[in-house]
Amino acid sequence: MADIQALTASTAEEVEQLRIKYLSKKGEVSALMNDFRSVPAEMKREMGQKLNELKSAATAKIAALRESLADGAEAAKADIDLTRTSTQMPLGTRHPLSIVKNEIFQIFGAMGFTIAEGPEIEDDWHVFSSLNFPPDHPARDMQDTFFISRSPQDILLRTHTSSVQTRTMETQRPPIRIICPGRVYRNEAISARAHCFFHQVEGLYIDRNVSFADLKQCLLYFAREMFGPDTKIRLRPSYFPFTEPSAEMDISCHICGGKGCPFCKGTGWVEILGCGMVDPNVLEACGIDSKEFTGYAFGMGVERITNLKYRVKDLRMFSENDVRFLHEFDAAH
Ligand code: DAH
Repeated sequence: MADIQALTASTAEEVEQLRIKYLSKKGEVSALMNDFRSVPAEMKREMGQKLNELKSAATAKIAALRESLADGAEAAKADIDLTRTSTQMPLGTRHPLSIVKNEIFQIFGAMGFTIAEGPEIEDDWHVFSSLNFPPDHPARDMQDTFFISRSPQDILLRTHTSSVQTRTMETQRPPIRIICPGRVYRNEAISARAHCFFHQVEGLYIDRNVSFADLKQCLLYFAREMFGPDTKIRLRPSYFPFTEPSAEMDISCHICGGKGCPFCKGTGWVEILGCGMVDPNVLEACGIDSKEFTGYAFGMGVERITNLKYRVKDLRMFSENDVRFLHEFDAAH
């Protein structure tokens, strides 16, 4: 009989034919079994053993052939070639606004600020009323604010992340030390210098005895970490409904080093954020005792900081998803 181990088959049908040839009732192995009767008694033991071994070897071989064919069929179906090298995935890059936002997080994180977030769709209370905007303040005007519905109450797209201050003060007790990143919306015509949405990071610190000097030191540290150790700051008096006193902060122009250049319009200074001491009316509106606690707040535009750092000339680049623009920041993170 043929060597059982050397049998091969390339189709399921051929395997079946082998099975019939060797293992069916009329097959060769069965025929040998039938001949067993005529084997002399003294050889029966040895022959019986051999026959049994042959039968199980043939059964196992045929099962193995069947299995290997099934595996091959599966692989062919899935078209898997395990020897092929994998294709390289084209990797994206981090968006410049995310790079800068993460840097802002790191700097304030080192000073103990945690991140707080709030909804982009807001109500009048959180965006305006709680922040001491008088009912007729121009910022509430249709010109600036995208209203979603006007009754029974005003629902709108937040125009600044100061709304997250209110949400946090309403639910947490001082000390509060948070930064609030997020997207904000204003009804502006889209151009190189204005967009109908942009990103802000708001800061808020409320505790006993928080002073304007604390604010100034915090912002000086931020400016130096963000723009380099030689950066100077100056605070100009300003007005925001939710802070008193209020200021705008400039940094020394890091392009000309403060000497004056087209970028800083010859002044040597560029504005980067608004800030001030939280107005007692705001604290009271959020249920915080303004006699016991004071605080400071600040708000900055992420696009503005990014422009200063990387000199992006057209705001629209940030939201057009042009990969050539995005790849320019490959090395920046
Ligand atoms: N909310 C202001 C804006 O959108 C920015 C700002 C100014 C936030 C002063 C503050 C602040 O917290 O104290 O222009």
